Amino acid sequence: MDALIERAAKDITSAKYVAALTGAGISVESGIPPFRGKGGVWEKIDPSYAEINRFMRDPADVWRVLIKEMKDLIDRAKPNNGHKGLAKLEEMGILKTVITQNVDGLHQMAGNTDVIEFHGSFARLQCMMCDKTCHSREVDLSEIPPRCECGGIYRPDIIFFGEIIPPETLRRSGDIASQCDVMLVVGTSAIVQPAATMPIIAKQSGAKVIEINPERTPLTGSISDYLIMGKAGEVMNGIISVISDR
Ligand code: OAD
Repeated sequence: MDALIERAAKDITSAKYVAALTGAGISVESGIPPFRGKGGVWEKIDPSYAEINRFMRDPADVWRVLIKEMKDLIDRAKPNNGHKGLAKLEEMGILKTVITQNVDGLHQMAGNTDVIEFHGSFARLQCMMCDKTCHSREVDLSEIPPRCECGGIYRPDIIFFGEIIPPETLRRSGDIASQCDVMLVVGTSAIVQPAATMPIIAKQSGAKVIEINPERTPLTGSISDYLIMGKAGEVMNGIISVISDR
């Protein structure tokens, strides 16, 4: 692993445009479980709870079973060394943009300023009747489902399964993927589309794709140039210390 960390530090510092694609795995060390695999959310909760049709049919049930549960975990979470490492890379003028599939806001909390929230964010709510948006901190979440003053039910500003990614989000992410010369792919199983296409676009446009993940993914050995097998926090720490020592 040390040799790969050295290699990544070299690739990152010699690049002109570094971008990152992150997934649930980067927040595991912050206490938020991933979706898939052992201990994942979908082991405990039926994934159909994340479908827009199910939410529309019974918003109270989805709020109770999925959203409230996840939001409670997110509200307690703090950025870990994985998020902090990416923020440090931005501070060093190396990393430009983080495209994240996470809805937890931890990249911004760590200090990254250009974060594309590919699947939206739990931080924002939108009334399904009058379209008013607000910060979830401003809303009384002890009443489920939470309601706007107009009486409408609030939905989280996240992308449910069956909803499309906003065109501007998709366009900007695609542009970044095709322009970067290194893409760090951290803590994602890389199976949910269209997010998982971003490393493919990067690779086809000539970028190096570096994966950080304790497990192999469908990108490993084909799209990614190499996989640094380990936890995001530990690996990012290693990369930052090599870069700082140079
Ligand atoms: P997944 O749960 O599918 O994958 C998490 C990945 O993180 C796996 O590849 C793990 O091996 C890896 N992992 C686990 N612990 C890690 C650690 N400490 N450091 C680094 N990696 C670690 O999560 P995503 O790929 O983000 O969509 O899932 C994509 C989308 O599927 C989510 O955004 C969500 C979900 O359904 C929506 O909500 C629309």
